[in-house]
Amino acid sequence: MSTLIRTKIKQLTPGHIGQTITVKGWIRSVRSPKDFSFIAVNDGSTFGGLQIVADGGTQNYASLLPDLTTGAAIAATGELVASKGAEQPFELKATTLELIGACPADTYPLQKKGHTFEFLRTIGHLRSRTNTIGAVTRVRNALAYATHTFFQERGFVYLNAPIVTSSDCEGAGQMFQVTTLSHDKPPRTATGGVDYAQDFFGEPTFLTVSGQLNAEIYALSHSDVYTFGPTFRAENSNTSRHLAEFWMIEPEMAFADLNDDMNVAESYVKYMLDHVLKTCGDDMKFFNQFIDKGLLTRLEHVLSTPFERISYTEAVNILLKAPKKFEYPVTWGCDLQSEHERYLAEEHFKKPMIVTGYPKDIKAFYMRMNDDEKTVAAMDVLVPGIGELIGGSQREERYDYLAKRMDEMKLDKEHYWWYMDLRRFGGVPHAGFGLGFERMVQFATGIENIREAIPFPRSPKNISF
Ligand code: 4AD
Ligand code: MG
Repeated sequence: MSTLIRTKIKQLTPGHIGQTITVKGWIRSVRSPKDFSFIAVNDGSTFGGLQIVADGGTQNYASLLPDLTTGAAIAATGELVASKGAEQPFELKATTLELIGACPADTYPLQKKGHTFEFLRTIGHLRSRTNTIGAVTRVRNALAYATHTFFQERGFVYLNAPIVTSSDCEGAGQMFQVTTLSHDKPPRTATGGVDYAQDFFGEPTFLTVSGQLNAEIYALSHSDVYTFGPTFRAENSNTSRHLAEFWMIEPEMAFADLNDDMNVAESYVKYMLDHVLKTCGDDMKFFNQFIDKGLLTRLEHVLSTPFERISYTEAVNILLKAPKKFEYPVTWGCDLQSEHERYLAEEHFKKPMIVTGYPKDIKAFYMRMNDDEKTVAAMDVLVPGIGELIGGSQREERYDYLAKRMDEMKLDKEHYWWYMDLRRFGGVPHAGFGLGFERMVQFATGIENIREAIPFPRSPKNISF
């Protein structure tokens, strides 16, 4: 192994020209026009990688030449020199090459350029070495970084909500069950049902669909908190916007109402986009050129204009007047489908928007009842190309209203005794939202399918890697 300390390609600046450095990475391509070679190496730290020039003066060059194949891992040491090539201001003139991991050219699946995303999903162990997934990965990383800095700068406390739970926050019955009971012969009760008293936790348990109820507990002690963790939904929808396992950021704020909620949501989305545009220039240029031609213009527009804010009733009226035929007809009271959300954000307003005041019957039990007793203090952020990016609400802090709503929705109040208790012991108005992280990655990159927005997508009948 090379003894020189290896430098990540991202760290290289024109200030390094003239210095001897070592880089390590994977070969993207090799051109050997004469008795020398141009080796494009990428270590994942940047979009472009680094060009290495090797020739007869490079130690090991002749013996290694047959092994300098796409996909092989190498170390190269030499002087960083100014480059005449347009792409990069410098290249490495190698004095030594070292093969770290060979990669046979005849069996490496990433030889040819222009693989489809469908094909790349079948090689989930290699696709992160491609331009697109490489860039998505760095943008996703930058969005995560911006998430923490946004909330930390504003005094929010980072909270880890549990993954295994016995509560269905959204009440949509889309939970994956977690059990240690035998599936073939579970223990039975006297009446023939499964005896969950004998299960690991002594009652039915599931993977969480949302950390919100737990976040509410900590908002009522630490004022402003946020979670950032995996959530799970067993919805059988094979769409370009749904995953069975996705990551959600859920801020929860005490002494806050729906307006505060919307303001934080809008600033948070803009903060993330601004950070990505400032720190992922090459990756974003690539997306703009090869994935989504209008991307940069659209994102600049998002940053420079306020989100449109309208009520659900206004949204329905716009949809009823729309010159477009929808697959799902619109009436007051219906849930907005993705086609409706996209029409509003993409075609009507042409920018992100926030819809408030949804009918109570299509929303979860915890949302605060409005004075009309028909709608709740809910807000969804809809963005062009995606539809719903954020779902949030002001929470029902009034004990009696909450109890009544839970009865109407046939929820077991005893099971949620601690949630009700929060309304009895120093309860305050509070609000929060959940942002789907992969949908944010889609919004920021223009990537068409959510399965490219997460390293290892989980969707119905798809659990490889
Ligand atoms: O609107 P949802 O269901 O809201 C909640 O879970 C609330 N408890 C959040 C809160 O108020 N703390 O989900 C929030 C967001 C959606 O807007 C969407 O972006 C994303 O999570 N989402 C999904 N993303 C990918 N795949 C799925 N199956 C998703 N379901 C929701
Ligand atoms: Mg929602």
